[in-house]
Amino acid sequence: MGQIVQLRAGETTYVPAPWAGAVPAGAEIQAFDLADPASASRALRDLQREGWLVARGAWAEIEALLDGVGARAGARPERRRRGPDPAREAQRRVLMTASPDGWLDTRPPIHLPHLLELLGDQRDASGGLPLLFPALAARELMSTLDERYPVRALGAELVAPKMVLQPRQQEVYDLFEARLLALREGLPPNLTALDMGCGSGAVALLLARLLEPLRPTVWATDTLPEALASTRMNLDRLAARGLVRAESVRVTDGGDLYEPLGDHAFDLIAFNPPWANARARTRLEVARFDFGQHTLRRFLEATPARLRPGGRLLLFYADNAGPKALEGVRAAAEAAGLAIVAALSKRIRVARRWEHIYLYEIVPAS
Ligand SMILES: C[S@@+](CC[C@H](N)C(=O)[O-])C[C@H]1O[C@@H](n2cnc3c(N)ncnc32)[C@H](O)[C@@H]1O
Repeated sequence: MGQIVQLRAGETTYVPAPWAGAVPAGAEIQAFDLADPASASRALRDLQREGWLVARGAWAEIEALLDGVGARAGARPERRRRGPDPAREAQRRVLMTASPDGWLDTRPPIHLPHLLELLGDQRDASGGLPLLFPALAARELMSTLDERYPVRALGAELVAPKMVLQPRQQEVYDLFEARLLALREGLPPNLTALDMGCGSGAVALLLARLLEPLRPTVWATDTLPEALASTRMNLDRLAARGLVRAESVRVTDGGDLYEPLGDHAFDLIAFNPPWANARARTRLEVARFDFGQHTLRRFLEATPARLRPGGRLLLFYADNAGPKALEGVRAAAEAAGLAIVAALSKRIRVARRWEHIYLYEIVPAS
């Protein structure tokens, strides 16, 4: 749930869920036009007095305010103790507004499609109200969306904002491409496939691109709104270049595992799950951490009911969590009434360590 905040001028705004509560209830929040030098200095003074404000003006002026307030707060010696970074704390009190469809209130307006999802909330959560959020979040978004991640198997570059797993590990997608091409002949025409935990959409887009001769429908889902937004953006980018058919990929509204998919069943399901044995305490960790393989086990338990007759699951895993983790995959699959019928693996180097990645092919045990 986000937060409704009334600005001093009477405007009612919506703070996206990840920041709900960050803006103190009852704070007097005034908008400052930074094009006016006197107003820009008042804004800076207000921030130095721990005030919260909305910055309006050219994007360069908003960035200059962020840098100015950061430099002043960071330079105060009494604040340089342990605890939150004082510069960042001060910068977080610089807010900005945008329309619910992602037009920032800057001069000229900047469009960030899928803004509400990229800020970590459901796409229609604001109920049509203007959005209110830290300008730092917009700065971070713009800089991460400038990065491009080439995916060799797709022959295309993808975008992936901070919370989303960046598709850097080419071998993962190469392995998937190799197996998918080998399987393609045996798959039915007009098949329905699913990319569970779609992240940037790399796997969903590979399914759409490589299975195109079969005219597939590919569903993509994830628990993080940021991931759904990335998949939508990458789908638009690849569709614009004619690399995939836009209508072949359906991105859900998101949620836990199969929950957003009604009672759909699939001919092919792919999941590159979180793999590290640790609790996810922040949104950033959701892509990587799965304590005690809890998510993996819940996913496998629910999968037999989601496979059409003759259907199969392609499951990625890595052995960097140790051999026990791989045994865990096998045991969880068996407990769910599934059988591993093939396993492709590849030795790869990740951050100066060697590890193996696996692509398991799994079907209902007969
Ligand atoms: C390792 S990343 C894989 C991303 C992408 N499929 C790829 O291969 O590049 C795991 C993904 O699973 C998603 N995820 C984690 N728990 C989930 C859950 N309970 N339901 C749906 N998706 C989940 C994460 O948000 C993340 O995008």
